[in-house]
Amino acid sequence: MSQSYNIAVIPGDGTGPEVVAEGIKVLKAAAAAHGITFTFTPYPFGGEHYKKTGEILPESAVGELRQADAMYLGAIGHPDVKPGVLEKGILLRLRFELDQYINLRPVKLYEGVETPLKGKGPEHIDFVVVRENTEGLYAGAGGCLKRGTPDEVAVQESINTRKGVERCVRYAFDYCRKRNARKKLTLCGKTNVLTFAFDLWERTFREVALEYPDITTDYAHVDAICMWMVKNPEWFDVIVTDNMFGDIITDLGAMVQGGMGIAAGGNIHPGKVSMFEPIGGSAPKYTGMGVINPIAAISAAGLMLETLGEDAAAKQIERAVAKTLKEDLLDVGAGKMGKSTSEVGDLIAGYVSKGI
Ligand code: IPM
Ligand code: MN
Repeated sequence: MSQSYNIAVIPGDGTGPEVVAEGIKVLKAAAAAHGITFTFTPYPFGGEHYKKTGEILPESAVGELRQADAMYLGAIGHPDVKPGVLEKGILLRLRFELDQYINLRPVKLYEGVETPLKGKGPEHIDFVVVRENTEGLYAGAGGCLKRGTPDEVAVQESINTRKGVERCVRYAFDYCRKRNARKKLTLCGKTNVLTFAFDLWERTFREVALEYPDITTDYAHVDAICMWMVKNPEWFDVIVTDNMFGDIITDLGAMVQGGMGIAAGGNIHPGKVSMFEPIGGSAPKYTGMGVINPIAAISAAGLMLETLGEDAAAKQIERAVAKTLKEDLLDVGAGKMGKSTSEVGDLIAGYVSKGI
């Protein structure tokens, strides 16, 4: 019997709808080739919807999204809406309420893509960041006093729970074990300064490591990780870290792998509904021009298939993306591809249909 999945789609703001359309095109091609059935249910949330209706994300929608098999998101963020309103009200709220405690972000340099790192090629840049996605500085703990006065005080605390840290670390060990033969997991922290939070992370990491004797473990401070990601990216296989450091190092990772146009991510709760997205923003200045690169969104769709357990279809999308990057694009940047957004989607969907 063919597997069937209900996918909730939030195209969102800016170029989100354009790239999501290409991702769905590719998912339909993969479905036809692999005997999968998808039902896509669109949701209008984002800046335009907020401006028109005042609604950000109703409770009823969160309930419906919880029932989906997976969620596919374009981009959240609108130039006319105060920063934070949509990001916190939609993206972070979904991550938190659906308890998507892992943010999985592969950093892979494909053949044919230029990295700004001199002397580095695809053989040097192929690692995955496992970012904790529901705690840390993102938890919203803190407050302010005497705002706007000379005596103003602002406190923003990083929340790290044993349960939250342990499930993230455990996921990273499991992911590392099945990813490839390298089996190296690096904890990224700041144990020399954040002596409470990263003491908990380090102890948890060491304890869980005892259950994974086949995995080589390593530790580096976040500032050193930034240095090594540029100087020796080949040292990394899987990196596990907290929410804030993960946010920062994955933007660096996106640049190392050639740009936001190809960086994909998944907000994952194993066994529950997970949400997949290109990690770049809504790119307002390119909206509606048909020049944005849809590959990040297409790779996010591939990550969704992998997480749903559709490995063959996921690998097929990865091969089609690799071939397009190697042979068909002049560059990965918006407006520089030598192809339009939908032409790139057509090419990849075509390769997927042909089983290349
Ligand atoms: C990301 C983004 C978000 C984050 C923003 C938009 C809230 O930068 O997905 O990395 O900080 O997590
Ligand atoms: Mn970010």
